[in-house]
Amino acid sequence: MSILRLESVTRTVELPDATPLDILRGIDLEVNVGDHISIVGRSGSGKSTLLNLLGLLDKPTSGAIYFDDVHTTALSSRKRDRTRGRDVGFIFQQFNLLGGRTALENVMTPLLYASGRQFWRRERIAMEMLDRVGLAHRAASMPDKLSGGEQQRVAIARALVRGPRLILADEPTGALDVETGSTVMTLLDDVAEASGAALIAITHDVNVAELARRHYRLDRGVLTEVDTAPTLIVTAPDARAITSGAPDPSHGAPYGNGEVSK
Ligand SMILES: Nc1ncnc2c1ncn2[C@@H]1O[C@H](COP(=O)(O)OP(=O)(O)OP(=O)(O)O)[C@@H](O)[C@H]1O
Ligand SMILES: [Mg+2]
Repeated sequence: MSILRLESVTRTVELPDATPLDILRGIDLEVNVGDHISIVGRSGSGKSTLLNLLGLLDKPTSGAIYFDDVHTTALSSRKRDRTRGRDVGFIFQQFNLLGGRTALENVMTPLLYASGRQFWRRERIAMEMLDRVGLAHRAASMPDKLSGGEQQRVAIARALVRGPRLILADEPTGALDVETGSTVMTLLDDVAEASGAALIAITHDVNVAELARRHYRLDRGVLTEVDTAPTLIVTAPDARAITSGAPDPSHGAPYGNGEVSK
């Protein structure tokens, strides 16, 4: 069953001198329940731009994006926000946890925007999720007292706490050492699989890409399915810092929780 479908999607922006820049060209992609997809591409190939489209944070310049067979580009921004909040979980390279709030409060945040049972039982649900990532004993800790791997596990718990059907991860292991990254990614893969969610990981890390069942390569805005995880890629960390990053906060709630951490 298809959750997300992209048909001939493009994204073009206008540069300051008024020339157009085609970032994504003719993207076709179908994401099904339980899929695990990796997308590998060089810095500047359009990965984060694509992730913002997949997560309904941006609209394509042309083409169509269907979520549950609903043409999302035609939806009001309020309806797109609601779909995103309920059905999409985001995980970023820099964790993006809210400082000054405990691990448990961070995981609870998306549930503040839920309704009914999920809202009223938010503390218990968040605690169960923290337990699933092995951090129940650190529930009262502030993010800056946790290691990088622990922070990413809290971020995973937060991304999954509302039971999203689509999980989008942008360089989820980019700030972790190889071993920690691999542990965190295996955990993410396990919880995603247990919940039946589809997982799309954008990555330079071949260990992350290899965990996926379907592999794509993004090359200058063109997305191609490949048989095995592509072994790119050396990207200068400095170059990444310039072109990468969390979605533009002006788009609203990146975690579907109505709140942006900075
Ligand atoms: N709003 C914008 N205006 C102008 N150029 C943009 C805009 N958004 C993205 N770009 C450009 O589009 C290209 C793709 O950007 P994107 O952030 O999607 O790359 P990326 O593959 O995620 O790179 P990285 O691996 O470094 O994170 C880059 O050259 C970037 O400078
Ligand atoms: Mg990027």
